[in-house]
Amino acid sequence: MIRQAVLLVGGRGTRMWPLTVTMPKGLLPVAGVPFIELQFRLLAEVGVEEVILAVGTDHEAEWRAYADSVTQPSLIVSVEPTRLDTAGPVAALQEQLDDRFLVLNGDVVLEGELTEFVARAPDLPATLALVRVEDPSAYGVVVTSPNGVVERFVEKPPVGTAPVDTVNAGLYLMHREVLERYPPGRLSFEQVVFPDLVEAGELGAVAIDGVWLDIGTSELYLAAHDAIAAGRSRLVQFESGSDPWVWIDPSATVADDAEISEAIIFPGAAVQPGATVHRAVVGPGAVIETGAIVTGESLVGEGAVVSAGCELANSVRVAPGVTLPPGSITFSPPK
Ligand code: GTP
Repeated sequence: MIRQAVLLVGGRGTRMWPLTVTMPKGLLPVAGVPFIELQFRLLAEVGVEEVILAVGTDHEAEWRAYADSVTQPSLIVSVEPTRLDTAGPVAALQEQLDDRFLVLNGDVVLEGELTEFVARAPDLPATLALVRVEDPSAYGVVVTSPNGVVERFVEKPPVGTAPVDTVNAGLYLMHREVLERYPPGRLSFEQVVFPDLVEAGELGAVAIDGVWLDIGTSELYLAAHDAIAAGRSRLVQFESGSDPWVWIDPSATVADDAEISEAIIFPGAAVQPGATVHRAVVGPGAVIETGAIVTGESLVGEGAVVSAGCELANSVRVAPGVTLPPGSITFSPPK
């Protein structure tokens, strides 16, 4: 069993802008549940009791308020005055860390058997969890020897050229001693620590099966809901009550004749009569007015207003609090 985990939740979350202006990425709701709670559910299965949240200063207040509301696991908020990248925040925690602990990226969760991962990890200073994906071209592909030692990484190989389909799942089993090798400051697992370990033959990898949910981009955030709505997640369920699915927070208002499908509607948002929201996210308190269309994996920021006659597509992002005047953005010629 493993007692302790570090969650990396201090990134800028630019790809999920503007939702990440007002909310850290790790707290974005997935079927109504703060994403990070999926990780807690997974970590509980392997006995983790203490989770250290490595956060940045920009969302410190939100993380502290959230941590105060959680009783299990025991949460420690560790704040970096300046961003230390992925390994730097963990190295900075050395004095608080057990000999062996888990590290997780805060925006992905691999719903695999964590107990099996820990049990199968080779006796090496660090071990990566790997997941198999259909198209590895967007990821860091990891090539291992038959005895589970990482031989090399292939970063984002062109489509069809990846030597294997196993990629870094953003979940690591780590011995504290690895971090003691580096001076304090910015440090990257992906760019520095893992390549160093590979060179020394000291990095293990174990492929585990399971649904992999990622909320790093609007496309992936919606795809995570596709998987959950299809009943593929064991950590979170929702009955959409409609096909295709929609996730509507109970405090949002959606008109009966609004057309909503494969959409996430945040608390306090409003979708007015005759508006269309398809494959898009409407942020907290945002308003989609009568006749407006929001689609194409677009993200509407907190409190923004999309007025009548606007048509958003192609991953458009609407900044928090702005009002798009009627008909001001469209991808089709005016009727
Ligand atoms: P993008 O800006 O959209 O790329 O998002 P990001 O800033 O979250 O970067 P990325 O998705 O590459 O980060 C992977 C994980 O590491 C996320 O859970 C981040 O929160 C976390 N992370 C990235 N950089 C830092 C950092 O400097 N400090 C801490 N504490 N976490 C980080």
